[in-house]
Amino acid sequence: MPRIAVLPGDGIGVEITRAAVRVLETAAKRFGFELELHEALFGGAAYDKTGKAFPQETVELVEASDAVLLGAIGGPKWDHLPATERLEIAGLLRLRGMAGAYANLRPVAAYPSLAGASTLKPEVVRGIDILVVRELTGGVYFGKPRFREPHATGLRAVDTVEYSTGEIERVVDLAFRLARNRRKKVTSVDKANVLETSRLWRETAASVAAKYPDVAFENMLVDNCAMQLVRRPSQFDVLVTENMFGDILSDEAAMLTGSIGMLPSASIGGTVDIYEPIHGSAPDIAGKNIANPVGTILSAALMLRHTFGLDDPAREIERAVERVLESGYRTADISAEGSTVVGTDEMGELICREVTA
Ligand code: NAD
Ligand code: IPM
Ligand code: MN
Repeated sequence: MPRIAVLPGDGIGVEITRAAVRVLETAAKRFGFELELHEALFGGAAYDKTGKAFPQETVELVEASDAVLLGAIGGPKWDHLPATERLEIAGLLRLRGMAGAYANLRPVAAYPSLAGASTLKPEVVRGIDILVVRELTGGVYFGKPRFREPHATGLRAVDTVEYSTGEIERVVDLAFRLARNRRKKVTSVDKANVLETSRLWRETAASVAAKYPDVAFENMLVDNCAMQLVRRPSQFDVLVTENMFGDILSDEAAMLTGSIGMLPSASIGGTVDIYEPIHGSAPDIAGKNIANPVGTILSAALMLRHTFGLDDPAREIERAVERVLESGYRTADISAEGSTVVGTDEMGELICREVTA
């Protein structure tokens, strides 16, 4: 039976994960498959109880699971922790690294019913369908050394950006394979005019591209890409890039859909797949039942499809989301004139009802 580790985490993580679990359970009932869901402590919630962001018990659960459904972690309460204990580093990055999940897929699809929710003009975002493929276990997030030392002016801090041919090859290759089932275009994003890692990225991407003559290929500098994403996002199909550029560009791209709360993600390629919305714990709206759970619910759908091969239930969840949005129901972040604003729980329930229907 599929085993899923559910890690709600902190802030809105708890609320959105609850909604996504209900949707998963509803889909399981409707389509007659079984899921084993095990919840565990992760992030600040884990730190407060055990003194660790990623306690051993949770490590063991993850190792024994086929997939992880993650809410979000972090918040001002834990921002004072030293680097080695920081939730983001000792929790999230350790989980990604341990899983070896090197490819983070972040699909950015515009729902017609949300055209008015974007801060961009409807004609700019209409019909966009972009897949951001973000390298997830390398680059400056994992490079060593990382330290601080005394300096004449106070302190000196060092982070290290690091990439090897193999790390670049495997994620770019995946981007090409995914593009083959889409509109057959790959844009590789880097900063090759400055960074050595980016020049290696560009050379490696070119040699991978040579294996896929049927897929159109281009390189783009990251600063230009940030601009093109809001200028004419329809030019993009698959966008592949290194860890930090992918982090930043995908938050930007989220606004094409209307809200960062809409975007799901799948982190694959390792021993256990990780599914999480792209946003964080949103401390500013936590505990108010107003967070948008759609990104997490769509992450659960990606999990059913990619890890468990349950294509029909996955598609049904995605269609249920569409139908609920088309009926005019919105969480506050995507509300518009004439729409009915509902809370996190209610949005989850509406989607469950559509899945059952
Ligand atoms: P954030 O993504 O949490 O929030 C940014 C803004 O978007 C906020 O105004 C928030 O209210 C809004 N927002 C985010 N998700 C939303 C949703 N589902 N519905 C409606 N509005 C939503 O980013 P931040 O504020 O920069 O970071 C907060 C904390 O989260 C930090 O500690 C950060 O490290 C952490 N973080 C964790 C993850 C993760 O666990 N995967 C991801 C990103 C940030
Ligand atoms: C994300 C987040 C994380 C990242 C942080 C919390 C470490 O922003 O998942 O996008 O930068 O990868
Ligand atoms: Mn991010």
